[in-house]
Parts: sequence; C-alpha cells; structure tokens
Amino acid sequence: MTTFKQQNVLSDTPGMNIPFVQEMAEITQHMWRFGWDERNGGNVSCILEEAEVAPYVNINKVIRTIKPAFPVHELAGKYFIVTGSGKYFKNVVSDPEANLGVLRVSKDGQQLELLWGLKNGAVPTSELPSHFMSHIERLKVDPDHRVVIHNHATNVIAMTFIHDLNEDKFTKTLWEMCTECIVVFPDGIAVIPWMVPGSSEIGRETAQKMKDHRAVVWPHHGIFGTGSSIDEAFGLIETVEKAAQIYMLIVNQPIKQCITDQELADLAKAFGVTPRPGILNV
Ligand code: 13P
Ligand code: ZN
Repeated sequence: MTTFKQQNVLSDTPGMNIPFVQEMAEITQHMWRFGWDERNGGNVSCILEEAEVAPYVNINKVIRTIKPAFPVHELAGKYFIVTGSGKYFKNVVSDPEANLGVLRVSKDGQQLELLWGLKNGAVPTSELPSHFMSHIERLKVDPDHRVVIHNHATNVIAMTFIHDLNEDKFTKTLWEMCTECIVVFPDGIAVIPWMVPGSSEIGRETAQKMKDHRAVVWPHHGIFGTGSSIDEAFGLIETVEKAAQIYMLIVNQPIKQCITDQELADLAKAFGVTPRPGILNV
C-alpha cells in the first residue's frame, strides 16, 4: 500500500508536518480501512512529552479550555493528542486540524487546555472519561504506558454475541485461535458487561479491568487496547481481532485438531511469558 509520506498531496496538509499528528492520521486511516471505524466510530488518545510538542505547537497559547467530565488531578500537566467527538476516522488524513486536538490537562486537573486542532469548536471524544481513567490505571502499573485506542473491531463484536462472556473462557478461546496470541496477550482479555457508552460508569468499569489487563472488550460494541506506543496498542487489538476472525471462520465447522493446553504452556515457556493463572489446564 502507498504510504502517506509517498503521497505528496498530503504533505501540504496543515498538521501533517508534525510527527505525532501524522502518526494519528495514519493509524486512524488504517483502522477505517479495516472496517473497524464506521462513521465516527472509535477514538484514540496518546500521551505526548512536552519536548515533542513544543517544537510544533505554541505551548504558551491556550486556544480555549474544555471542562472534563471529572477533575483529572492524576494527569495534571500531561499533554495528549486525541480524536474529536463525532469525527470520522476516514477524514483525519485530509484535515487533521478539524479531527484531532492537542490538549494539556491544567495544573489543577480541572480544565483541558486546547493548544492545537479541534477547529470550529470541536470537542474531544465522548469516550474521554474511559480513556483518562484507563491512562491513570495503566500508568500506575506501566510507566511506559502512553496510548489508548478504542475501535469497533468487527469480529470481536461478532464473537460477543455467540461466545460465553466469561473473560477467562473468552481469553482461552482467543489463545487457541492463533499460535502467537498467548505471546502477545499472556495477561488475557478482560470483558465488562454491556453498558451505555460515553459515561463515567463505563469508564470506571473499564479502568478497573485495566489494573491488570491491557485490553478490554465492550460486548456488542468494540474493544479498548492500550500500550506504550500506537504500534503496541494497535498491534494488540489487531492480534485479538485476528483471533476473533479465525473463531468466526471455524465456529460452525467440525474441528479436527487444535492447539492443546500443554502446547500453549510450552509456547509461553519458550517465549518467556507467564499466562494469566487459572486459564490453562496443565
Ligand atoms: P466519539 O465520536 O465521541 O469518539 O464516539 C465514538 C465511539 O466509538 C463511541 O463509543
Ligand atoms: Zn465506540
């Protein structure tokens, strides 16, 4: 596939000279092309260092302030690039300034200071409570954590209609679908009950799971994946979705052979990862 860097037409687009804007434009475009982000579906937030923002954005000029759903003292002073609410991933690449925003959480945690983007009064994603609460929990267990991605991964959603939503059973099935799964997510996949999106309640429930998982499935809606980079968070979701796709392909077929629990345990040992306890029967 032609990369955006090769498409000269995009290099003149305002914002595309900023590395972290370009990375967001690329990943949102990939997810849209995968069919995981129909219409305005999905949202991304990424923690940025002041040193990477300052060369491109005037950090002393606050365009406007936005009130978060709850005070975020834990993230005070942190910089984020986020997708806008109601914005189509399809369109980020042609107008990053309208579809993305660079924000700083104020020193007292009470305000979001808009420094770049979110043109024409746009606001951050409606899932910001879930993103912020997830960032807070992941940072407690992983100082390298930076990224939260939510999307509507097709086969993950499909699987939540026909598979038991017990998260250990869900994890085990996914591990069994592709050899590399247990290596990519030995910590397993969490599943929360169906809840109204965009609320602080779903944010709290998701963040609770983020204490010891990097991915959380929202039944009949989509998935939240986290990581130390966009590649890591995206790669995690991509791997879960691939396993869910295999499941959907084989679920109605007679199974002739599969990866045994002992083989999964051997695999984990060979790759130096510890599978979440209580899932494999070995
Ligand atoms: P936003 O457009 O507000 O980001 O919402 C999209 C979505 O996927 C809600 O769950
Ligand atoms: Zn969604």
